[in-house]
Amino acid sequence: MDRIRIVGGNELTGIIPISGAKNAALPLMIASLLTDDTLTLENVPHLADVEQLIRILGNHGVDYSVSGRRERQGEGYSRTISFTARNIVDTTAPYELVSKMRASFWVIGPLLARMGVAKVSLPGGCAIGTRPVDLFIDGLQALGAKIEVENGYILASAKNRLTGNRYTFPKISVGATHVLMMAATLARGETVLENAAREPEVVNLAECLNAMGARITGAGTSTITIEGVDSLSGARHRVIPDRIETGTYAMAVAMTGGDVLLEGARADLLQGALDVISQTGAEIIETNSGIRVLRNGSGISPVDVTTEPFPGFPTDLQAQFMGLMTMSKGKSKITETIFENRFMHVQELARLGAHITLSGQTAIVEGVSKLKGAPVMATDLRASVSLVIAGLAAEGETTVNRVYHLDRGFERLEEKLSRCGAVIERISG
Ligand code: UD1
Repeated sequence: MDRIRIVGGNELTGIIPISGAKNAALPLMIASLLTDDTLTLENVPHLADVEQLIRILGNHGVDYSVSGRRERQGEGYSRTISFTARNIVDTTAPYELVSKMRASFWVIGPLLARMGVAKVSLPGGCAIGTRPVDLFIDGLQALGAKIEVENGYILASAKNRLTGNRYTFPKISVGATHVLMMAATLARGETVLENAAREPEVVNLAECLNAMGARITGAGTSTITIEGVDSLSGARHRVIPDRIETGTYAMAVAMTGGDVLLEGARADLLQGALDVISQTGAEIIETNSGIRVLRNGSGISPVDVTTEPFPGFPTDLQAQFMGLMTMSKGKSKITETIFENRFMHVQELARLGAHITLSGQTAIVEGVSKLKGAPVMATDLRASVSLVIAGLAAEGETTVNRVYHLDRGFERLEEKLSRCGAVIERISG
């Protein structure tokens, strides 16, 4: 299994190109199931999760072709990919595929809307809490679907097309918002989704669906209205830049010091997190080509954060922010409200010398003046990258094991960081 070896202590200086957002690309790819025409997506990141979803969609009969491989510096960077679901050959998403990535469960929406039937395995994915699917079931039933759960599978059917309805999410869910929005595009009549997720990835998906002929208004607010249409066509659409990758590298610079341009990043996608990073003492400057992050000399100020749905502080940046706070000049409080059990990075950060105490969903981080390198391991994507950025700031050598988590969500991480002066390499085997 590959490992990443880091020798910490260098400042980061240079340019980091920001990739297309994984969390936008995945639902957009799934939207290709809604039409027999071709959906072309630009700026699709080259990530293990994207490759896995290509396999899953292929199983349903989606053909794909890659072009624009050299959109940035070379092979492996974000690409343009066309998806065509001319014929859906299979409406079952099997356990072997879905268990590897939770988002693949979302095929249930388009399959049900277009084919009137879907059989989808209950999901797997990151080990961060129970992550149930009750909201999906509840919401699809509100659109008239019949749902049965049998042998680990959800059997959904809507023989005479889904029917528009008003549905209020009892809890905000990004995935359930994506799925109900996609399903409602082909339903009979109007659907109104209340208490919907407002994440930029929801907006990106709605814009793509509208380009395909859907009639969606209100995406980006808590109320989304979808006027159902008979069919959707193909379209060409661009994946937004990855706000989590942006925030991660911004925190890395805030931690190591230095001056980095996050090329192609958009501040409006993560303003809340950028405000928090600047409160820690880093300078954030919006430029024509992206976001510049600098920290020169000044220490890191402690800041308290609570994770919240967008536009609040994202749970996907919580682990990285905790990494940053381990070297702050005081005490900070980090509260996780989205997922239970999302503090697995705490004991690994402690191996680097961090002082963190946990009390329920809150972590109290007592800043230390230096961290020291050590072998570490993480069990989810964002936790792994928090160990990478802590390793960059730690004295000596850190090895991060189980790199496959990073490969799920960070495109060319070692290369991007080493170009900015970090000593970081992948060790195969
Ligand atoms: C998405 C993101 C993930 C991010 C999360 C929250 C993708 C591919 N993944 O995940 O990176 O951390 O949003 O911003 O976009 N819940 C239920 N019942 C349900 C569905 C969800 O109780 O049926 C709960 C979850 O357990 C969690 C909360 O709702 O506590 C939010 O989860 P949700 O927004 O659905 O996360 P995902 O869409 O899976």
